[in-house]
Amino acid sequence: MKTILPNTIKNEPVILGIESSCDETAAAVIRGRTLLSDEIISSASVQALYGGVVPEIASRAHTDAVDTVVKRALSNAGVALSQLDAVAVTYGAGLLGALLVGLSFAKGLSYGLQIPLLGVNHIRGHLAACYLEDEALKPPFITLLASGGHTAIIYTKTETQFEVLGSTLDDAAGEAFDKVARVLSLPYPGGPHIEALAKEGKAVVPLPKMLKGEGGYNFSYSGLKTAVINYCHTKQQRGEEWSRADVAASFQSAALDILVQKTVEGAMEKGARTVTAGGGVLANGYLRERLSAACAKAGLKLVLPAKKHCTDNAAMIAAEGLIQYRAGNFAPLSLNAQASIPLRAATEKD
Ligand code: KG4
Ligand code: ZN
Repeated sequence: MKTILPNTIKNEPVILGIESSCDETAAAVIRGRTLLSDEIISSASVQALYGGVVPEIASRAHTDAVDTVVKRALSNAGVALSQLDAVAVTYGAGLLGALLVGLSFAKGLSYGLQIPLLGVNHIRGHLAACYLEDEALKPPFITLLASGGHTAIIYTKTETQFEVLGSTLDDAAGEAFDKVARVLSLPYPGGPHIEALAKEGKAVVPLPKMLKGEGGYNFSYSGLKTAVINYCHTKQQRGEEWSRADVAASFQSAALDILVQKTVEGAMEKGARTVTAGGGVLANGYLRERLSAACAKAGLKLVLPAKKHCTDNAAMIAAEGLIQYRAGNFAPLSLNAQASIPLRAATEKD
């Protein structure tokens, strides 16, 4: 099917970004790297009633919210539909039904306005969030990616070329937070609740390190998760006293300290002077502090996206859309939603 190309390539195009891969319906407008508006309608509180994201509920919530959230983003940016140069949208990975809502809406806008469609890989969006924080930021740098679906240390060579130094071999960091939260009877999504509970406890529970391969960059979270579950169940069965807050604090440091250490090691190995990060787990205050301190100690510049740009949002989708626009990578109107995209595929394609 047809690919709509721009009449002229602008230096500072006005791009509308749309995100609907999970439980946040989001829209944002950028001009060049300047963020003009950033809107979100979340169905997380409804999903929390079910202990996780129910795909059908997410799809319906997106259908209800997408028009409102896009209108709000345009109006808060002071941008009319006719002033848009392109529309960027997440096409994967994520829940198919949820993705299709944003994708169909974006295609309709692209076709109706005859402006290019930019297909954005969600993970590349998380990696691009750092550009919103520092408009002058340029690769190379080391990027720590930690979301609900992925955990990896990545060497970002250019805006479109990446080398994955290592990644999780099983659960992602965010997934581990969500699973451990269930064991501690905390609501979904677990990350923020574990962080809050950890503040009341001490990291005194012995837990295994989750590093696979000495000196490497691969991780495994499943052993850590099982160790937490076993600890809690054993204490309960024996009727012994135990502290949920201590478990939360111990799990948090076991899960995150290694990411900080490996990120700094990656920067040293690659001779990168700058570190960036992205993904929902980077909203964690403990991780942010640890990473800041470690980078400062190692003399590395850290560009950390604002917390609201670490969890799912449309500003990062617009930011990656700009990279695709500048690379001349315009999507056909036949672009389809993709439920899963392996990290290596996401980082190998320009
Ligand atoms: O990047 P994201 O919003 O969605 C995905 O693309 O996966 O990440 C969501 C994940 C969830 O697993 C959630 O528990 C975790 O990020 N998360 C956190 C925090 N806030 C969100 N994990 C630890 N501490 C937090 N404060
Ligand atoms: Zn995400």
